[in-house]
Amino acid sequence: MPGRLPDKVTIVEVGPRDGLQNEEIVVPLDVRRELINQLVAAGLKVIEATSFVSPKWVPQMADATTLMQTLKQEQHVRYPVLTPNIKGFEAAIAAGAKEVAVFGAASETFSQKNINCSIEESFQRFEPIMTQAKKLSIPVRGYVSCAMGCPYEGSVPVASVANVATRLYEMGCYEISLGDTIGVGNPMLARQLIEAVTESIPVENLAAHFHDTYGMALANILAVLELGVSTIDSAIAGLGGCPYASGASGNVATEDVVYMLDGMGIQTDINLPKLISVGKMISSHLGKPSNSKVSTALLKS
Ligand code: HMG
Ligand code: MG
Repeated sequence: MPGRLPDKVTIVEVGPRDGLQNEEIVVPLDVRRELINQLVAAGLKVIEATSFVSPKWVPQMADATTLMQTLKQEQHVRYPVLTPNIKGFEAAIAAGAKEVAVFGAASETFSQKNINCSIEESFQRFEPIMTQAKKLSIPVRGYVSCAMGCPYEGSVPVASVANVATRLYEMGCYEISLGDTIGVGNPMLARQLIEAVTESIPVENLAAHFHDTYGMALANILAVLELGVSTIDSAIAGLGGCPYASGASGNVATEDVVYMLDGMGIQTDINLPKLISVGKMISSHLGKPSNSKVSTALLKS
């Protein structure tokens, strides 16, 4: 029995960051800027643009400052960026970012591998970001990685995810994005996750960030939509992965999410044909086929 589906869904496009951080080649700055601009033209209103992390760890995002300085930010669009620590936050703000995201994990090993510190230490690093962000009225999003499984520890208790999510929310993150980093979830686990997390966080403040490694992402998205989640992270052409999660493939493709939502009569304000052209552009730049099934089908027909 379907639950209460939302009338409208906000898509958070993470392709320029989550997608391109994991490509072997560093996509040139002008292509990344063009990608972001084309996503805006297709109707996306939230686009995660880049990350202010160590260039030694993620060389693909090394030019974050130049990207933000040269990006023409539209009034009606938000361009959040990832900031793991106060150094990243300060650089992001200096470069013109108006929204940031901190990223923690529900698994200790993943936290160490991804951001080189324990979960507890990660909260100590987020604290000064939250303080500064509050002073500057900068909204902060919070990610929880390994929300449905960890590449190093295997299954992750729902209670651990709820604990990290709640701490991020209580420290001031306006939205908590639950990341199935390696795409190992299933609809039942997705439902259990939302039920556990909504004991302390309103469903309006949650987002689903599902990678599609095992082809489960759309099924998991449907499960969480039925529980009232109305913000979905996705990546154009299903780009993506995480450099510190071996075997992680791309995020669910934005084209596939929009096609599903359009078909279900759920408003996104995104133009699917334009979106497909954007996916075609970036896939041809990368010299590889799109991971979007919808795009593949529609470009054949
Ligand atoms: P660290 O080595 O512990 O940091 O790295 P440190 O404070 O000891 O500094 C070491 C060096 O890094 C110093 O430079 C710092 O200046 C520099 P050196 O003196 O050696 O030349 N540094 C920085 N440089 C630029 N920007 C910064 C910064 N901070 C320190 N912000 C750090 C800690 C977090 C920086 C590092 O581990 C790192 O950059 N990790 C990369 C994490 C990352 O980007 N992962 C992928 C994104 S997360 C993800 O994909 C999951 C998500 O999609 C959700 C999901 O799917 O689950 C969000
Ligand atoms: Mg991700």
